[in-house]
Amino acid sequence: MTKHDSPGIGRRSFLANAAASAAALSIPAGSVSALSLAGLVHQGAGEPLKVGLVGCGGRGTGAARQALMANEQNVLWAVGDAFSDRVSDAVGELQEALDGSQRGAQMQVSKERMFAGLDCIDRVLDSGVDVILLASPPGFRPMQIEKAVKKGVHIFAEKPVATDAPGLRRVRAACDEARIKGLSIVSGLCYRYHHGRRAVVQRLQDGAIGEILAMQGNYLTGELWLKPRQPSWTDMENQLRNWLYHTWLSGDLIAEQHIHTLDLMAWIKQDVYPTRAYSLGGRQKRTDADYGYVYDHFATVYEWKDGTRGFSYCRQQNGCFRDVDEYVMGTQGQSRVFQHAISGKTSWNYDGPQSDMYQNEHDEMFAAIRAGKRIDNSDYMINSTMMAVLGRMAAYSGKDVTWQEAWESKEQLVPDVLAMDSVPPTDAIAIPGVTRFR
Ligand SMILES: NC(=O)c1ccc[n+]([C@@H]2O[C@H](COP(=O)([O-])OP(=O)(O)OC[C@H]3O[C@@H](n4cnc5c(N)ncnc54)[C@H](O)[C@@H]3O)[C@@H](O)[C@H]2O)c1
Repeated sequence: MTKHDSPGIGRRSFLANAAASAAALSIPAGSVSALSLAGLVHQGAGEPLKVGLVGCGGRGTGAARQALMANEQNVLWAVGDAFSDRVSDAVGELQEALDGSQRGAQMQVSKERMFAGLDCIDRVLDSGVDVILLASPPGFRPMQIEKAVKKGVHIFAEKPVATDAPGLRRVRAACDEARIKGLSIVSGLCYRYHHGRRAVVQRLQDGAIGEILAMQGNYLTGELWLKPRQPSWTDMENQLRNWLYHTWLSGDLIAEQHIHTLDLMAWIKQDVYPTRAYSLGGRQKRTDADYGYVYDHFATVYEWKDGTRGFSYCRQQNGCFRDVDEYVMGTQGQSRVFQHAISGKTSWNYDGPQSDMYQNEHDEMFAAIRAGKRIDNSDYMINSTMMAVLGRMAAYSGKDVTWQEAWESKEQLVPDVLAMDSVPPTDAIAIPGVTRFR
């Protein structure tokens, strides 16, 4: 990538690749293409679409149900997880939910298409699915997206899409190929599919509060689950079962959870990303070794080239003040985004329909695929992951880190080869000012 001041990465990379494809040049990035392209992979309105799920936890199970509810002709065809108990639990839960909605016939996962193991993605893809839902820990996402694109299937990818910069560069390359192949890439950055958020962000982009000077994003919440280590678990199994607490798997909480807040800032800024960040963070409450080596709080300042500042706070500590919201300050007013409210030069409150953003993602994705259109969320799903990883790098190192440095970072957290009996990557808890930026 050439040196640049105004990230993100997507269009630059896309344009380089698109030179090879005149058709690809006419696809607007980040949105549904209204064009029906030669070679675009799609299915007619009445034909079944086979859906595969990889990562059968809470979010994967939810995404599978939403995929099936999006269209009666969608069938769940194959599922995979690192662990067989997660596969059978998810299939049982989904069957019950679908039966309850009179949609049980859409569950077409036979025993032969229930796969366990770290290589389950290969077998789910080989089973002949049209669409894959990726909801395992994010450290595996670059490898999974590469494989799905190679196989030519549409992708729903939960956020974040990598935990390190080398992984993000792999996702960028794979998504450029997906664009040329006509594959949809829908991101689990679900705020962008919330009707109220769409309405308020549109107004902010249209200047409802004048020039945006600053944004404050809070994801201040409580502690998450911990699975007590069982005597039979290897170190690898323990890390996979408790993936939130291992940076190579989750990206740390700034990437795993707070990415939503950061993505919202970037969206308000019309997908122009900050040029640098510095950050304060550490672990005060989750200090036990069971919690791996992630932090439990970050306070990060992002700076944009035009002078806009984003103040971002995330915390996972019980017994503390909680707030998940975004506050936007402009020259002529302000907005509280989660209240869908604007005050100042103009006053406005969203009064449109309420809807389920998780369901909307799947409704829009399957409608596009069936209409021979494509949705491509790759630019913001990659750049917002980069924004989160940039913040983490700044916090762990204690340095002021530029976007360019972060994007070019060679720090690879996820090993190239992994097996259940591998020794998992371990690292020391980062100490700002001591841990080196790499
Ligand atoms: N968009 C949202 O609002 C939202 C909400 C929650 C979670 N998420 C994201 O969804 C993903 C999953 O989160 P979750 O809450 O469902 O976690 P979870 O722990 O409930 O589920 C993850 C599953 O992945 C499995 N797994 C681990 N390694 C695997 C591999 N190599 N291949 C296949 N499966 C593997 C685990 O065994 C587990 O069953 C994460 O990326 C998370 O950030 C998004």
